[in-house]
Amino acid sequence: MVKHTATSVVTIERFIIEEERNHPEATGELSGILYDLGLAAKMIANKVRSAGLADILGATENENVQGEVQQRLDVLSNDIIVKAMDHGGRLCAMASEEEPGIIQIPDQFRCGKYCLMFDPLDGSSNIDVNVPVGTIFSVVRKITRGRHGELEDMLQPGRRQVAAGYVIYGSSTMMVYTTGQGVHGFTLDPSIGEFLLSHPNIRIPENGRYLSVNDSYEQLWSDGVRTVMRKYKGLDGDHKALSTRYVGSLVADFHRNLLGGGIFAYPANQKNPRGKLRLLYEANPLAFIVEQAGGAACDGTQRVLDVQPTELHQRTPLYIGSKNEVELAQRVLSQPAELVGA
Ligand code: AHG
Ligand code: MN
Ligand code: MN
Repeated sequence: MVKHTATSVVTIERFIIEEERNHPEATGELSGILYDLGLAAKMIANKVRSAGLADILGATENENVQGEVQQRLDVLSNDIIVKAMDHGGRLCAMASEEEPGIIQIPDQFRCGKYCLMFDPLDGSSNIDVNVPVGTIFSVVRKITRGRHGELEDMLQPGRRQVAAGYVIYGSSTMMVYTTGQGVHGFTLDPSIGEFLLSHPNIRIPENGRYLSVNDSYEQLWSDGVRTVMRKYKGLDGDHKALSTRYVGSLVADFHRNLLGGGIFAYPANQKNPRGKLRLLYEANPLAFIVEQAGGAACDGTQRVLDVQPTELHQRTPLYIGSKNEVELAQRVLSQPAELVGA
């Protein structure tokens, strides 16, 4: 296996081809999906970077299936991904945070054996104030017969993913992905329009430094969740105090914790009993990545990647990041309520 370091100039295309060589049975279809996603990322980055100049900031008049007001860039990013991915002949269907149902492959294009699920723009409430946003994607193999993808193909547990990744449109544009052979980060060099290998074999520190949580929901949390947060803040003396860092863009918070060590938590609360974040195209892809980097992800009672999905846009509580902090949450939240805090 070729050993890459961040000093050699390795484009994402070259890296994907060399990774593919480790799989003699590979047909190149998954590689093609990753290339095309890299192209879509460059196109979205271009729009995000100039959003303040072109008239594409702000909200549309419509709400998406989540009941959230769609930002113009949400819709634009969604359309860029659908158009970049629908004709390559590798996908049999797609699903997006921004569309209620499955996105079928138009009849004039060939269908392939993979399904793509994605959050085209994550953290979109931050667009107008120039805070980093991202794109998150998940790829699973088709399991139903017939040409077109079906809901059943999408509703597979996260452990069945064959690839997952995200793009962060931050101080630089980075694409981070895994195909189950470790986690690798590529930084876009705008002068040549190429993603170059900058973070080979990313590993997340076992112990966290940062805590990413929106404390304003504290009154709505269960006693168990409050106990977990007290421990993360060092108030119980049995865990060091973590520094709080909360951007409000899952991709940005996740990326900082992946590189520096930390825990991102979006617990269930009385207003959102299943939390806010979506399982198929936010929690699952990031859980695949974090486990490949040596971290963990749970929903408070079980491993995220073992959750059996039942709906396309179902939400899940999420504790994701450094192994030790995720295990702490799972330990406390799996206790019977009367023992919590004992
Ligand atoms: P999206 O913009 O795709 O709807 O995702 C927003 C999510 C996530 O990015 C972030 O961590 C979370 O919403 C923030 O929620 P709160 O504002 O409730 O903290
Ligand atoms: Mn999101
Ligand atoms: Mn989104």
